[in-house]
Amino acid sequence: PQQKVSIVRGRLLWFHREPLGADDLSSFTYIEDGALVCMGGLLSWAGDWADLPADHRGAAVTDHRPHLIVPGFIDPHIHFPQGQVVASYAGSLLEWLNSYTFIEEQRYGDPPFAAAMAKRFCDMLLAHGTTTAVAFGSVHKASAQALLAEAAARNMRLVTGKVMMDRNAPEALTDTAQTGHDDTKALIDEWHGAGRLEVAISPRFALTSTDAQMEAAGALAREHPDCLIQTHLSENHGEIEAVEALFPDAVDYTDVYERFGLLTSKSLMGHCIHLSDREIGRMAETGAVAVFCPTSNLFLGSGLFDLDRIKGGGVRHAIATDIGGGTSWSLLKTLDEGYKVLNLQGHRFHPFRAFWQATRGNAEAIGMADRIGTLDAGTEADFVVLDAHATDAMALRMERAETLAEELFVLQTLGDDRAVKAAYVAGAEAMADALP
Ligand code: GUN
Ligand code: ZN
Repeated sequence: PQQKVSIVRGRLLWFHREPLGADDLSSFTYIEDGALVCMGGLLSWAGDWADLPADHRGAAVTDHRPHLIVPGFIDPHIHFPQGQVVASYAGSLLEWLNSYTFIEEQRYGDPPFAAAMAKRFCDMLLAHGTTTAVAFGSVHKASAQALLAEAAARNMRLVTGKVMMDRNAPEALTDTAQTGHDDTKALIDEWHGAGRLEVAISPRFALTSTDAQMEAAGALAREHPDCLIQTHLSENHGEIEAVEALFPDAVDYTDVYERFGLLTSKSLMGHCIHLSDREIGRMAETGAVAVFCPTSNLFLGSGLFDLDRIKGGGVRHAIATDIGGGTSWSLLKTLDEGYKVLNLQGHRFHPFRAFWQATRGNAEAIGMADRIGTLDAGTEADFVVLDAHATDAMALRMERAETLAEELFVLQTLGDDRAVKAAYVAGAEAMADALP
């Protein structure tokens, strides 16, 4: 049967590799008047409107000119059960976890509640231009199931897992080494690789797992080498001290994960703020990813992620919101705060690099650059439409912008969900303008 074809017209921008700087124009493709052909959830063609193949000339066209179309943003570190923890008044990580987060997440053991929140979570992602997330669930298997079912209904590419945590948290929010293993395994068997879904092995962080649970997580990672592993590493000094006290045999915090087989090229390590040179070396050698969470790191006073040191050390990297320690669902705002964090350390974060990171860079970090993060023909048709004139402040500034780099910088510095005019998931418009 003939597949339904739809065409989207607008200015197109996508990246092929990490830009070296402002002059690295061959790192991306920019098309002033471009067309995307969507067929069967994929991009079957991308190029100049004028070159649109003749056999597509009759298909329905959605014209987004003069807006900019980029690959959907990818958020590789976000917490599904923390949408209502954002903006909770706390001094630092452990106070924030104990005072709010470990209370709030208990609600997600209730399947109807989790299902209702999963809808709102996906709505929020799409309204902010995020078409793929790697999300932590709560400790409850039901939380991950709810989010997976919701993403399946929307045909979103999404990764999640139930967090494993068997100590240093309220009774109602802990599993055991055995149930954490078995529930994760059941999720993998049911959902991993189903449609666009994946399941991540998710030991919350070393502080909330016993040796037995870390062993179990490592066993899962060995049995399922294609599953991502998501956790937290070296976010806060109090956390680091506590972890070192709990695992006295480990050389350092990174070594705790490595000993249990949890430091691999599938590992997404949230934060990585206070790493030693040795730890950076092990991250580089194992191919683990350091995930920069600027709004969270500033909000919780955790510290300044040194992207140049991480990158210079050969460590793979990503950028993420870390909702609800993070304060914005927007990857645009996240890039803005990331810029400020680098600037404070005397480093630069050119908008070409920033937009690469939020799209193709994050796709590479989660091992999906062959499917998402670009507008290459043959990849999945997840993209967003951005308006650099979305607010009065943006329009005022744009009167004096002349280049693509300036437009991108205005988008990341002044933009948020208001700049996202549409989000397409597998070729279908999923969310236009504001939340319902
Ligand atoms: N470390 C362990 N759990 C969490 C969490 O939920 N948020 C953040 N930012 N850090 C963590
Ligand atoms: Zn986190």
